[in-house]
Amino acid sequence: MDETYHERTGEGQVLEQLRQLKDTALSELQGLSSMEALDKWRVAYLGRKGSLTVLLRSIGQLPTEDRPAAGREANQVKLLLELEHREKAEGLEREASLQVLAEDRIDVTLPGRPAELGYLHISTQILREIYDIFAEMGFQVYEAPEVETDVNNFQLLNIPPYHPARDMWSTFYTTRKGVLLRTHTSPGQIRVMREFHPENIRVILPGKCYRYEAITARSECMFHQVEGLAVGRRVTMGDLKGVFTNFARKLFHADRKLRFRCSYFPFTEPSVEIDVDCIICGGNGCRICRYTGWVEISGAGMVHPQVLRNGGYDPELYSGFAFGMGPERIAMLKYGIDDIRHFFSNDLRFLQQFA
Ligand code: DAH
Repeated sequence: MDETYHERTGEGQVLEQLRQLKDTALSELQGLSSMEALDKWRVAYLGRKGSLTVLLRSIGQLPTEDRPAAGREANQVKLLLELEHREKAEGLEREASLQVLAEDRIDVTLPGRPAELGYLHISTQILREIYDIFAEMGFQVYEAPEVETDVNNFQLLNIPPYHPARDMWSTFYTTRKGVLLRTHTSPGQIRVMREFHPENIRVILPGKCYRYEAITARSECMFHQVEGLAVGRRVTMGDLKGVFTNFARKLFHADRKLRFRCSYFPFTEPSVEIDVDCIICGGNGCRICRYTGWVEISGAGMVHPQVLRNGGYDPELYSGFAFGMGPERIAMLKYGIDDIRHFFSNDLRFLQQFA
């Protein structure tokens, strides 16, 4: 008898505790007005050490026959508290967003902030001018990779390993043997010749080149070049002179004088350097032309028979001319820019002048 009495009392006590807990929890919940308070409430009742959780755990101590009823009731209280918690939270969130809407009104009639317009980099502008002029003469643009093989960059251009002519280009080598950053756009000539039939090749090959050199007012370690290549059955030095004279006159918008001066490149024979009369002083002599009246704008020449052969062409049947120039150098002459470092140091005061 005694035992039964105790058992009933145990179960009765738990049910009573649950009822009380439910009533206090719900009435406390009513009065809460912030998310933080709500969170504290949740921890106090439903958290791992919360009072309902503790009570739930204590049901395990009850005699077996009393556990189901107490357990059922406790779980119902738990579900109820969880539900009420969720609803309260949603209510608080709704209120908060209504408040934001009321307080932070957006005035849609205010003028917008103007978006700044970008513009082309000076090098891109010059490159496009060059493309346009050569396009009129039937030249297409061909893009070749900046990471090249030693074979294309040097050997097939008639510059074997250890040849002293390699000193003309200080080279960035990669960790992969035989792979480098191209020092000039000339290796693109090999790629073009190997890809296309020798009749009527007229291409320009623009792109970035890299040289392992001290950076000064006159030299950068990265710069652009535009290579040109024309191959066909009777291409002559006269064609080179005509094409280049037309190009220089279109680019510099004047009746420029050109000078083809003897030079040396391993991949051309004969080789020349092309000068124009100084744009700054008109040929009278100034700092830019070093008082010679002439400024160099390109290397060029007739494609060396061995290079034609390396491209897969028969030099008995085909001939070609090639040239290579630096658009930054040309921009410097055209606009009187005295330091090549301005181009890639991202100083907007410089760049915006060409907007
Ligand atoms: N590749 C030469 C350089 O970077 C420039 C050059 C000279 C290119 C003569 C040519 C050429 O195509 O015929 O210095």
